[in-house]
Formats: sequence, C-alpha cells, structure tokens
Amino acid sequence: MEMIYLDNAATTPVLDEVVEAVADCLRNYFGNPSSLHRLGIRSEKLIKEAADSVGAVLHVDADEIIFTSGGTEANNMAILGTALARQRTGRHLITTAIEHPSVLRVFDHLKSQSFEVTYLPVDKSGLISPDRLEKEIRPDTTLVSIMHVNNEIGSIQPIEQLGRIIKSINPNTVFHVDAIQSFGKLGLYPKKWGIDLLSLSGHKIHAPKGIGALYVKKGVRLQPILFGGGQQRGYRSGTENIAGIAGLGAASKFIRRELETKSAYLYDLKNRLVAGLKDALPQAVINGSLESGAPHIVNIGFPGMKGEVLLHALEDEGVFVSTGSACSSRDRTVSHVLKAVGVDDRIAGGSIRVSTSYLTTMDEIDAFISILASVVSRVEKYSRR
Ligand SMILES: Cc1ncc(COP(=O)(O)O)c(C=O)c1O
Repeated sequence: MEMIYLDNAATTPVLDEVVEAVADCLRNYFGNPSSLHRLGIRSEKLIKEAADSVGAVLHVDADEIIFTSGGTEANNMAILGTALARQRTGRHLITTAIEHPSVLRVFDHLKSQSFEVTYLPVDKSGLISPDRLEKEIRPDTTLVSIMHVNNEIGSIQPIEQLGRIIKSINPNTVFHVDAIQSFGKLGLYPKKWGIDLLSLSGHKIHAPKGIGALYVKKGVRLQPILFGGGQQRGYRSGTENIAGIAGLGAASKFIRRELETKSAYLYDLKNRLVAGLKDALPQAVINGSLESGAPHIVNIGFPGMKGEVLLHALEDEGVFVSTGSACSSRDRTVSHVLKAVGVDDRIAGGSIRVSTSYLTTMDEIDAFISILASVVSRVEKYSRR
C-alpha cells in the first residue's frame, strides 16, 4: 500500500466527482451571481442547486443555507451574529468545555465585551449533563452552542434531547450546533431536533478547503459579521465562491448516497480497528468512550510515550494520523479536550487520533494495526535505552 490516510477528521481527500464539478464551474460559470444578465443567472442557479444538495442532507430548504468560507466562519457567524442581534434581550451564553477553538475563541472575545459565558463540563466519556444544561438556562440566555461530534475524541452529544430541553425552558434561546464532524457521518435533523443554526465544513466531506455553510432556520435573526454588497440575503456579503460551492454541492450528493446506503460502514471499520487494537496492543487506552463515540474517530493513548514521536514513526511507514486535534496540533500544550475528560497527562501526551472516511478500506485498517504494533514496540525499545 502506497499510503494509509487515517487523518480524515483533519481533512479529507477531494473526490473525483467533486474535482469535476469544481473544474466545470471554473470553466463554464464565470458570471457574477449578482449580475442581472444570463451569465449571472446561470451562476446563481448553480448556487441554488448546491444549496438544494446541502439542504437535502439536512432535510431543510435551500434558502436556509448560507455559504461561508468554512467551518470557522460559520461558527463565528452563528455565535457573534446571535449574541449581537439579541444583546438587548440578554447577555448570557452557554457552551461546553470541549468545543473547537473556532467556538471557544469567539466566546473569549464575547466575554471581553462583557457577555457572561457558562461552560458546561463533560464526564469521562466527553458528554455534558442534560440536567446541568437545564439548570443553567435563564430568561436572559440568548444562545446555547454545543458541538455534535467532538473532533478529538468523537463523543456524540444527545442533540435531540438537548434541543428539547432548551426549547422547553426558554423557547427564545437560539440553539447552535457545530456539526462539522458529524455532517455526512450521522443523520442530522435540525428541524426535528430544535436546532436554529448548524455549521458544516466542506473539507471534512471530500470537498475543497475554504468552503462551508451555516444552516439558518427561517425567521432566526443574525447580525452579519461581514458587511458589503448584501449577497446571500444580507447574511453574508461578498461575491460567492461559486467553485467551492459547486464542490460542496457535489460532495453533499456523495454524502447523501453514502448515508443512505452505507451508514453502518464506518462503524464496521471502527469495530475492526478496536478489535485489532485489543489483540495486538493491549496496553493501548481508548480516550473518551467507544460506546458513545462517533463512527470515524478513535483517540488512542499509549502511556508514557510521545504522540508526536508515534506520528512521525508512522509517517515513515506511510501511515498518516494526528496527535490530539489537527486544528491545534501545532500547539504543544495538552489538549483542552483530553484535560476536560480527565485523561492522565502521561496518557494524553502519548495519544494519537485515528480517523476514517467512506474511502478507508478494511485492508487499510488491518495493515495499520500491524504497522502500529511494530512502531510502538520499536519506539518502546528505543525509549528504554
Ligand atoms: C468540530 C470542528 N469545528 C470547526 C472546525 C473548523 O472548520 P474549518 O477548518 O472549515 O474552518 C473544525 C475543523 O477541524 C472542527 O473539527
């Protein structure tokens, strides 16, 4: 095998059918979607078709999809946009301790602007307590932002139950979900689950980097964070990245097909991986919980070892994984997520994240296990010297 790519939570390879859609757009759709002539109308139609494809995965209408420059912008837009639009109603916001930096840093900023932020803790499986959420919601709580699947340990929050709690206590509280790691891996039903805003990102589902979207339920008020020509119904000014949008549309079509026909496949891969680990590497510890975890993310700790050493030793064998979270992997401090779930520093420092996609094969998982076993024993021997 030339290479085994198991870092799909960081980013995914772009599918051929997506490359085709992007190339076709670049070649044949150069009109500005805001132009009134027919070239503009053609481009506008392309955007609408892509919004239909994204909306179909979420079971929502195309006009509830706003395209952004990626997941980070979608999260910023949802959180800042709600906090600012609703600040006369209240300045209390709720989130969790294990959010992605594109959520946590926005709340840091809002705190500096005298908003009050409550951070919900998680248990050792990486799950918040629904009872605790219920107790924290107040009449002046304008926003609750909770990620669906955690990008480091894969914990899945019970979003449907949380949505029900939020809306029963304060129907005016806006519920935002960062679904960047779950879009395309798990079924998502924003309408049924009481979700007002939902973020997703193209490069996690085989589309290019730099394109994402925010689902904005009809009637939800958002103050824009980008001002200009008033594109996308004023929610997000700026000439649309139509090639990226076409790519996200094509990737969403693929995802919809996979979810319908192969939804168990990622779990099959995970079961194979976990069984292989148990056999070949009994010293490995799973961070977070396997039972309540996403199908495509497994965080594995090797006590006393260094995750970065393992990562590079695996890379030498053509295997690509991540330490902790890829989005913050250049930050050498212990991951805030592993800390929040109470993972011992000796294990956290020796952790790698393995993440799969629909393109991963069973043979790759088998080969990975045997390469990992030999790498771990080599690194162990070396560190004992
Ligand atoms: C859970 C989560 N939220 C947000 C982001 C940021 O998305 P993007 O890279 O598209 O800005 C990521 C990326 O890793 C993520 O995993």
